[in-house]
Amino acid sequence: MEIPRFCLGIIILYGIFHLSPQFVPNNSAMPVLSTQETTNTSVNQQDSETQKHSGNAPVILQLQSVTKTYANGSHALLDVNLEVKQKEFLFITGPSGSGKSTLLKLLYGEELATQGEVIVDQCNVATLRGDRLPLLRRRIGIVFQDYKLIPQRTVAENVTFVLQAQGYTRKEIQRRLEPTLKLVGLLAKADCFPSQLSGGEQQRVSIARAIVATPPILLADEPTGNLDPDNSWQVIQILQKLNSFGATVIVTTHDEQLVRRCNHPVVQFRNGRMYRK
Ligand SMILES: Nc1ncnc2c1ncn2[C@@H]1O[C@H](COP(=O)(O)OP(=O)(O)OP(=O)(O)O)[C@@H](O)[C@H]1O
Ligand SMILES: [Mg+2]
Repeated sequence: MEIPRFCLGIIILYGIFHLSPQFVPNNSAMPVLSTQETTNTSVNQQDSETQKHSGNAPVILQLQSVTKTYANGSHALLDVNLEVKQKEFLFITGPSGSGKSTLLKLLYGEELATQGEVIVDQCNVATLRGDRLPLLRRRIGIVFQDYKLIPQRTVAENVTFVLQAQGYTRKEIQRRLEPTLKLVGLLAKADCFPSQLSGGEQQRVSIARAIVATPPILLADEPTGNLDPDNSWQVIQILQKLNSFGATVIVTTHDEQLVRRCNHPVVQFRNGRMYRK
């Protein structure tokens, strides 16, 4: 991924976000960039540091005394309390099996808490019925740890599939596709199939798919897991840029060096329990 192309993508996406608020579906998502609002914040209301940084931003993601035990008896999360305010950028670290992906799955409703409550954008995920869960998910971009690309579809089709399902017009889809692919450095691979891509390229397709609708919440599960340090840093810069546009971003990672390089709040999971760093 070349830096100039990356920068160009950022500029184009910036233009889309600012000139086309109608492309932000359903909400007040992606608020206009304000330098005062991009300061790093912490994640827990009880933490005085957090109060100092996050100001009066509303809580957008919340876990209250959440325990998750899978059907086979595996205790993935134990009594987790977490609050993330709008426009925060939070890293989640922890060893393999410590519960990071499970936490994200609870937030987008793929799994339900065994005990406790998961509140996303003021909705209790467990009580959403009918089309309310799909509607909530439209407000959440998800970068899956295992990419979840559709093998029979090209890069462009994988990225735009969700937009088509959500009823975007062809014109809107085209307008979004190119800057998004540029942003992740994959414009030249738009017509390739996933099997023709490297692991890192597939990872970037999954990032493009997550951000193409400019959702107000972005959950990225190991988005740099398959990337070299340079590409990892580029990806984090993309996520930070989206955060500066107003998205609330949660990133899980094993990459302690990357976390140290950024100045974002971090929580760590160990054996399903959450600790602040
Ligand atoms: N569908 C499932 N059924 C049963 N147990 C599961 C399931 N998914 C995860 N687990 C268990 O829950 C625990 C937490 O898993 P999780 O995937 O959340 O960890 P993680 O921190 O994301 O790990 P990694 O860094 O390897 O991705 C592990 O012990 C795992 O074996
Ligand atoms: Mg995981």
